[in-house]
Amino acid sequence: MTERMTERRKILVTSALPYANGSIHLGHLVEYIQTDIWARFQKMRGHECYYVCADDAHGTAIMLKAEQLGISPEALISQVKAEHQKDFGDFLIQFDNYHSTHSEENRELSSLIYNRLYENDHIATREITQAFDPEKNLFLADRYIKGTCPKCKTDDQYGDNCEACGATYSPTDLINPVSAVSGATPIEKDSKHYFFKLPEFSDFLKEWTRAGHVQEEVANKLGEWLDSGLHEWDISRDAPYFGFEIPNAPGKYFYVWLDAPIGYMASFKNLCAKEGLSFDEFWGQNSEAELYHFIGKDIVNFHALFWPAMLTSAKFRTPTRVCVHGFLTVNGKKMSKSRGTFINARSYLDNLNPEYLRYYFAAKLSSGVDDLDLNLDDFIQRVNSDLVGKVVNIASRCAKFITKGNDGVLSTAIADDALWQQSAAAADSIASHYENREFGKAIREIMALADAANEYIAAKEPWKLSKEEGCEQDVLDICSLGINLFRALMVYLKPVLPAMAKEAETFLNDSLSWEGKLQPLTGHKINKFKPLMQRVEQDKVDAMLEASKEILTAATTQPVVSSSPLADEPLADEINFDDFIKVDLRVALITKAQHVEGADKLLQLTLDIGGETRNVFSGIKSSYQPEDLEGRLTVLVANLAPRKMRFGVSEGMVLAAGDKKGIYLLSPDSGAEPGQRIV
Ligand code: 2FM
Ligand code: ZN
Repeated sequence: MTERMTERRKILVTSALPYANGSIHLGHLVEYIQTDIWARFQKMRGHECYYVCADDAHGTAIMLKAEQLGISPEALISQVKAEHQKDFGDFLIQFDNYHSTHSEENRELSSLIYNRLYENDHIATREITQAFDPEKNLFLADRYIKGTCPKCKTDDQYGDNCEACGATYSPTDLINPVSAVSGATPIEKDSKHYFFKLPEFSDFLKEWTRAGHVQEEVANKLGEWLDSGLHEWDISRDAPYFGFEIPNAPGKYFYVWLDAPIGYMASFKNLCAKEGLSFDEFWGQNSEAELYHFIGKDIVNFHALFWPAMLTSAKFRTPTRVCVHGFLTVNGKKMSKSRGTFINARSYLDNLNPEYLRYYFAAKLSSGVDDLDLNLDDFIQRVNSDLVGKVVNIASRCAKFITKGNDGVLSTAIADDALWQQSAAAADSIASHYENREFGKAIREIMALADAANEYIAAKEPWKLSKEEGCEQDVLDICSLGINLFRALMVYLKPVLPAMAKEAETFLNDSLSWEGKLQPLTGHKINKFKPLMQRVEQDKVDAMLEASKEILTAATTQPVVSSSPLADEPLADEINFDDFIKVDLRVALITKAQHVEGADKLLQLTLDIGGETRNVFSGIKSSYQPEDLEGRLTVLVANLAPRKMRFGVSEGMVLAAGDKKGIYLLSPDSGAEPGQRIV
């Protein structure tokens, strides 16, 4: 698509709404960074663009998590929303509004849309039979039922498929099924459910999905589903459920995925009330505004089938485009807690500048749905060489000759007009890459301009000229052009690097705008140069990985895939005695054990090692109650370097056997004394 520059476009942009029961991690951030760059770009180009989002606050998972924590779902979702907003803010994600699906606007819009579907005869009801937990009085979705695989007989498998042998089945096929919520044996129970008659929209969707609203590869996938026939979509859940009750259906609630996308509208409606905008201009059937949803490839069916069908029936406009991206891998593999590559937003922010990641993701993003790899060595190398080595270097090499030589005033002439024109003329092509979500292409073009600028400066060697008599004007002209080339680069990078751009604006004493044709700054006073970005340091990356490691807990969340611990975890490389003796193991008495607020897996242990007290966070919560640990002896790796974690510093590690079946804390025989060395 080419950028329509002649008019001021009205654009509404959304990212998928994160669930209100977990932290934001780097996988999420691919999408928020992608969307934020795109929305910032549109705003810079002078369009009327709004970027809205919200927490996705409903559903069984959130209800159960709140119950587990002993707080109300409302309290949980408000805590999580505050955490999410802080994380997003610190990653410079600039929402125009951040709301919640548990809001009045969403309740009203969900009822309105449902009522319209109902009036249009697009709702069906019928009885269905489901597994039911008789202790919790709760219908159980497949993932809340566990049992033995009917095929390979592996224990502890979820209700719909076996992770050991790959078999798929229905929960009723499981041997010895139990409710994962209470441990009770589920019974079968009937109840009335409400369905959205999706098959009635097959023809509409066949056309819509081929009309340029999704990438071609996505349209092809959707085509497969459409050709194999759509099914009616179950949009109701029985009480108890945290959500909105369905109008005229007591005890029946909207399934979380019914009101989640309506949350986009609700967040925008909330913004309209705050800023006096017209909701209908953006959502009315005849809206001329553009609507873009950025989502991951796992939720395409909700956004490109159910959502346009619902909107059509309810007489709202449909999305201009659903922009689908792939998943994040770290160092070429799925993010992993044991490798420390399941990195939460906060663990990153505790150690690294958010703009490093914004830049790296931008450099690797395309408009396709391929997965994006965060290779940490490449991350360090690329950010240091591009941003510090190329972009900042231009300004730092040129600024001093202008500050010293001409009191900070740029020369009145452009020394090499062809070079300046090359930089200025790239604006259109870079803009069209941004518009088309080809950020990697935009970055490559920007870096080629940076290379050209550096080559120019290197060839002219102003630092040598400055030592020669009578070359003052040449030095000033060369460095003024250098500063102008740097400025052009910062205009183009501003959607990606808003904080660095702000610093550059202070230095340049100018605002970096990209609405019209770029004109050079001449005879203009700039400010003293300050370093605009520090290099990425390896030890900061290491500290982030260290802080993200949950050594024992990762295994316990995985299903059982093999019956032999040795096969699962082969022996490590041989070490000699000198290596071994470096590890100082001590008998430790657990004097106190407590839950850690906000940590799913950790317990906080206070240990006495004979005259010294240690604070240790240990991932053993799934297998131990704190009160059962107090007074017990265990083994501490006492000379392990302290590790900074989100919840505090962990001073050593307690030893436990851990695999997919459970965690078993090691204890010396009775009689051992705290502080004794273990060899
Ligand atoms: O997959 C998810 O994380 C959902 N919470 C996304 C919802 S997007 C929208 F439809 F609300
Ligand atoms: Zn199996």
